Amino acid sequence: MKTIQLKSIPAITATDTYAFAPGGFADHTTPLILNCWYVAALASEVSRDIISRRLLGTEVAMYRTLAGEPVAIRNRCPHRSFPLAKGKLDGDILQCGYHGMQFDPSGRCVNMPSLPITPSNASVRSFPMVERGPLIWIWMGEADKADEALIPDTHWLHDAKWKSVQGSYYMKSDYISMHENLLDQTHFPFLHPGAIGTPEYARSKLDVRQDGEVIIIDRQLKNSPPPGVYGVPTGLTGKPVHRYSEARFASPALHVAFARIVDPTPAEGAQSDYRFNITHIFTPESNGAIHYWWFNSRDFKLNDQAADDYLHEASAKAYLEDVDALEWILDVVTQDAQPQFDLNFAPDKPGLLMRRVIHDRAAKEAGASY
Ligand code: FES
Ligand SMILES: [Fe+2]
Repeated sequence: MKTIQLKSIPAITATDTYAFAPGGFADHTTPLILNCWYVAALASEVSRDIISRRLLGTEVAMYRTLAGEPVAIRNRCPHRSFPLAKGKLDGDILQCGYHGMQFDPSGRCVNMPSLPITPSNASVRSFPMVERGPLIWIWMGEADKADEALIPDTHWLHDAKWKSVQGSYYMKSDYISMHENLLDQTHFPFLHPGAIGTPEYARSKLDVRQDGEVIIIDRQLKNSPPPGVYGVPTGLTGKPVHRYSEARFASPALHVAFARIVDPTPAEGAQSDYRFNITHIFTPESNGAIHYWWFNSRDFKLNDQAADDYLHEASAKAYLEDVDALEWILDVVTQDAQPQFDLNFAPDKPGLLMRRVIHDRAAKEAGASY
């Protein structure tokens, strides 16, 4: 299984020359959205050992204060660009490993050993962070727009009524393609045969709506056997059930799928209603690479190791199929010299709506006038 790596690859495309056009659709070359909360790291990754990660094209160093608060500052000393993550912590003060310049958690320089007086105008940028359950969110856009109320809801990841399995990938793709993949349910039976998709589900009617910048797909399929990922943990494999699902592009950082499986004829005393919340988190490293975290959460069999193991294995396999497909696609798109305008069909509408939302947000951030 691939794991999150701290190394980086360069951006595929220079984004400062991107041409915004009215009615445009974002693609892998669109400038990244900065005014958005993204996940910087899992809470379990950030400790008293400083780590670094490239997020939205910026090198970031992360650690915790003695009180346990997560801190993110630019991983680049303002003196000679030494990566601050290679320095050390002295209490809550981070000391650069090159000439010993010291910074407090706000990024303000509090000492420069080679000078008799602290250079009071020296600082390194710090970024707001908010810890919510297993996630640490970061704001890298305009500081005065960092409103915690904009962090999307993921309460099921730290609610005792839910149990989650989790995994992550570092992938050479872009968040636009990943969001489009998750809004595109017609690929399930072909890219993920057996585990996620059934041919009946691929043909079932979907209802697409847009609520502001959120894109929602509702779908239901009645009296049809569930795919493995729902059938095995519920014990309903092969039995006709009702399946209700909602897939939601919640923000550039987050896609959530809510699934409900209803057994219309439960055995005496047996449960009839089962819920799964599936959380996909994307943080671009650059226009050509993303950090991807996923969680598969359920509200039943909370202490069942076999269910954990099955769901982890099935999810990791299915999402790796997406990772592979999208890495192959970006490779073709960026390496094939012959231009192509991809065909769009009716079921591609949710993805196109999402690409329009991201395009318009990026245009607004860039101050594009058209
Ligand atoms: S490079 Fe950091 S103190 Fe000189
Ligand atoms: Fe997929």
